[in-house]
Amino acid sequence: MDVDAPRKRRKRSAPRESSREKRVRILFVASEGLPFSKTGGLADVIEALPKALVAQGHEVAVVLPRYRGTKAGAVVMPSLTIPMANRLRFPAIADGTQVSGVRYFFLDDPAYFDRDGLYGNSSGDFPDNPERYSEFCRAAIEIAKHVWPADVIHCHDWQTALVPVLLRTSYGDDPLVKDIPVVFTIHNMGYHGLFKTDVLERAGIPGAVYHPAGMEFYGNVNFLKGGLVYSDFLTTVSKRYAQEIQTPEFGYGLDGVVRSRADRMVGILNGVDYSAWSPEKDKLIPMKYSAKDMGGKHVCKQALLELFGILPEHAARPVIGIVSRFADQKGFDLIAEKAYELMKEDLSLVVLGSGDRKYEELFQAMANTFSGRVGVKIAYDNEIAHKVEAGADMFLMPSRYEPCGLNQIYSLKYGTVPIVRATGGLDDTVEPFDLEHGTGTGFKFAEYSGAAMMYAIRQALHHSTDERIWRRIQLNGMAKDFSWKGPAAEYAKVYEAALTLRGAGQAGRNQMSVTTSN
Ligand code: ADP
Ligand code: GLC
Repeated sequence: MDVDAPRKRRKRSAPRESSREKRVRILFVASEGLPFSKTGGLADVIEALPKALVAQGHEVAVVLPRYRGTKAGAVVMPSLTIPMANRLRFPAIADGTQVSGVRYFFLDDPAYFDRDGLYGNSSGDFPDNPERYSEFCRAAIEIAKHVWPADVIHCHDWQTALVPVLLRTSYGDDPLVKDIPVVFTIHNMGYHGLFKTDVLERAGIPGAVYHPAGMEFYGNVNFLKGGLVYSDFLTTVSKRYAQEIQTPEFGYGLDGVVRSRADRMVGILNGVDYSAWSPEKDKLIPMKYSAKDMGGKHVCKQALLELFGILPEHAARPVIGIVSRFADQKGFDLIAEKAYELMKEDLSLVVLGSGDRKYEELFQAMANTFSGRVGVKIAYDNEIAHKVEAGADMFLMPSRYEPCGLNQIYSLKYGTVPIVRATGGLDDTVEPFDLEHGTGTGFKFAEYSGAAMMYAIRQALHHSTDERIWRRIQLNGMAKDFSWKGPAAEYAKVYEAALTLRGAGQAGRNQMSVTTSN
């Protein structure tokens, strides 16, 4: 078991040779992560980025809640004491073993986490989410203190925002953790973790942070704001989104806070784990294929049409795929507006998704009206998601906003041409096709309107009728490399900067090792 005393830890993480000088011990804290839990792209990132950092010589552990179905190993800490309002809770920390060189720990508290759903169920969000994630944040700090001493803590989204808040307040006098730098990644500004002020007491948040320069937000308590204010460095998941969230349109009321911290914020585009998401390696698709031999894509398309009940008489039409959480963010109201116009075009549509009931109903209604041409599965199913990526001709993401977006990047590798709105990571990853130069990987529209979306779709359909041009667009996309190597190196630079800022940079850590070994 890896229960190092802090003194020992400092020695271990201290570099001894120049080639290892940049080795950092990073503790990831996130509310979901593959291969254990997932509702969206965050889980993909929490699996792949630690793996990529380990490949670059860093040590990484990930703390996750132990949700229903998560299998855990031995108990690392049988009973943590977590203060909450006027009571104490005693959750355990379980060992999640090591996967691909990454160490996992789970906060194990069945009353809070052994439920159907991660954040809520069909009646909405769980009302005790602030308590659940407050306990989670405290547990993560205790892991850094007693179990897996970290050089840097890397938090993700509002559920983990109390880590920096508590480190700089409740733990402000604790010599073992008070100076650990915190890097906070914004995956989505649309989710704040906003609660009434009674949450301060309920979730054991120090009252001292309830002020306009802290967690207060128009008379409520805003977790995300706490993360933005108290972390040492902020990152978000594309360069374009890093700009956008500094504007009122995308900032959801926190754009001023982000602007005030602009000197500590960087946009780092998410990567893709090509061992899971490439047509050459994908074990979940009917036939593998590659840029050199595209034969398998046709087989994948036929299988997809059958799976979604598209009738043989429509088999020659281009098929547009959608895989998504159904949320307002994703822009499906544009499809609602243009449903009939869309289906006048020469295409069929396959949709996999779940979430907001109004979009589930929209797509169900389309499937009923255009039966045999529109296939819909209201489900969350990873295997089918892979099949859509491989079998569709085009992939549609008309998002209102999109911090990064992963599906369009997956699509590029599968030769499935993305049609996207030019926002956030969609804008950073898809280059518009340019007929004159033969460059570009997809089709984009800027204005958030049904007409603009239809224009981009018609452009794509038009070019799809010319096999030679279409193959060019597909190959341009398949040649793109969005692996994690580059982004992981960028994160490593942020960790170093955060360490330097807190006086524990390379020099600082060397100093520490000298002190502890004497
Ligand atoms: P977001 O995190 O906003 O949902 P991303 O594009 O970053 O959007 O990531 C979504 C991830 O979730 C992708 O890996 C996608 O394949 C997956 N996904 C979304 N909806 C479904 C679904 N219904 N079934 C299976 N996978 C899904
Ligand atoms: C969020 C965003 C998505 C992003 C993902 C991973 O859920 O909505 O755009 O790709 O996080 O960073």
